[in-house]
Amino acid sequence: MNPTRAEIDLKKLEHNFNSIRSYLKKEKPGKKIKICGVVKANAYGHGIQEISSKLIELGADFLGVANYDEAIKLRSVVPDANILVFGTLIHSKLKPAAYVKKLLKYNLIATVASLDTAKFLDYYSGKLGRKFKVHIKIDTGLKRIGFDVKQAYKNVEQIFGYRNLEIEGIYTHFATSESPDKTFAKHQLNKFYDLLHSLKKGGMNFPIVHSANSGAILNLKDSYFDMVRPGLILYGYYPSENFKNIIDLKPIMNLKSRVTFIKRVDANTSISYGRKYFTDKKSFIGSIPIGYGDGYWRALSNIGKVVIGNRYYPISGNITMDWLMVNLGAKRKVSVGDDVLLMGSQNGEYLGADRLARILKTIPYEMLCAVADRVQRVYFS
Ligand SMILES: Cc1ncc(COP(=O)(O)O)c(C=O)c1O
Repeated sequence: MNPTRAEIDLKKLEHNFNSIRSYLKKEKPGKKIKICGVVKANAYGHGIQEISSKLIELGADFLGVANYDEAIKLRSVVPDANILVFGTLIHSKLKPAAYVKKLLKYNLIATVASLDTAKFLDYYSGKLGRKFKVHIKIDTGLKRIGFDVKQAYKNVEQIFGYRNLEIEGIYTHFATSESPDKTFAKHQLNKFYDLLHSLKKGGMNFPIVHSANSGAILNLKDSYFDMVRPGLILYGYYPSENFKNIIDLKPIMNLKSRVTFIKRVDANTSISYGRKYFTDKKSFIGSIPIGYGDGYWRALSNIGKVVIGNRYYPISGNITMDWLMVNLGAKRKVSVGDDVLLMGSQNGEYLGADRLARILKTIPYEMLCAVADRVQRVYFS
C-alpha cells in the first residue's frame, strides 16, 4: 500500500470542539449557543463523512456545506442532522419540480441569497405540498452572495410573504474577522444588528440568527447570536497568530509518508528535475513518495523541510508529481521504511499548515484543502 497518508486524530477534533464549546460558555454564560460545524470542501480536506459523524456525536447542532452535491453525499452518513447549504441554488439538469423534490427528500436547509431562489423554492415546494426550510443570507460587506443589507428589509419582507418556505434563520459572513483590527467586522456587525432590529419591529423574527466564523468566535463575541459556524478552529488552526492564547487547539491532521528509497551520491550531484539543487558533499539522498499530485506544494522545493525521527531534513531539488527528495546528510541515520512527517506536528516537532502557509504566502485553509483525494485518510479515535 502507498505509505503516503493523512492521519486524522478524532480525539483532537473532540478536544478542539470542547475548547470551542467551553469558550462560548465562558464568553456568554447562561446562553446555549448552537454550533454549526463547517465541513465544506471535504471537511477542509479531512474527510467530510468521518468528521461529520464525529461532530454530530460530539453534539454539533448543524453541519455547514458549500453546495448541494456535498450535502446529498453527506446525508446518508448523518440521517438526522441539520445540514445547511451555504451556496446558492443552481438549477440542475433535472426538471425543476424533480430537483426540488430531491432536495426535499434529502431534507436540506437552503440558503436564500436572492429573490429568484426564494421564488423558485416557494413555487415548487408549493406544488409538492411541502415547506422548504431556509436561512436568508445578508451581505453586510463581504460582497460574495446575499441580499445587500441596504435593501434587505424589503427583500426579507417579500420572502415572508411566501407561503411554502419555513424561514428558520438569517445570517451574514465577515470579511475580516481574523484581523486584530475590528473596525470593518464591527461595521458589518452593526449593519446586521440594525437590520435585525428593523425586521423585529416589522414583526419578522428568526429562530436562528448567526454570523460568527472562527475569527469572530475568537475576536468578536457580540457576533454569536444563536449559533456560531466554526471551520478552521475545529481542525486545530488559528485564523490569526494573534489569537493563539485565546483557546487551546490541536491540529488534527498529520500528513505523512515513508522513506522508500535511499542512495548515496557524490558531491556536486544534481537532484531532481531542472537540476536546481547540487549536493555540497557526498550525501545520502532519500526519496519519499509524495509530490504535488498529492497536494504537497511544489513551491516548497528547496525551502521546505520534513521531519524523520526527531530531526528536520531539507527538501532537496524540485518536488515532482509523485516524489520528493531529501538530503539525509553524510552519515546514514535514516532507513528505508522510516516514517516522514510533511505537515502537522509530532513529538514536539512542528510543521503546521500555518507555518507552511506563511512560507508560501498563503493561508492554512488552502494547505489543508490541497491534500489530494489520492492521499488515503486514516482515522484514529
Ligand atoms: C458561510 C461560512 N460560514 C463559516 C465558515 C467557516 O469559516 P472559518 O473556517 O474561518 O471558521 C465559512 C468558510 O469560509 C463560510 O463560508
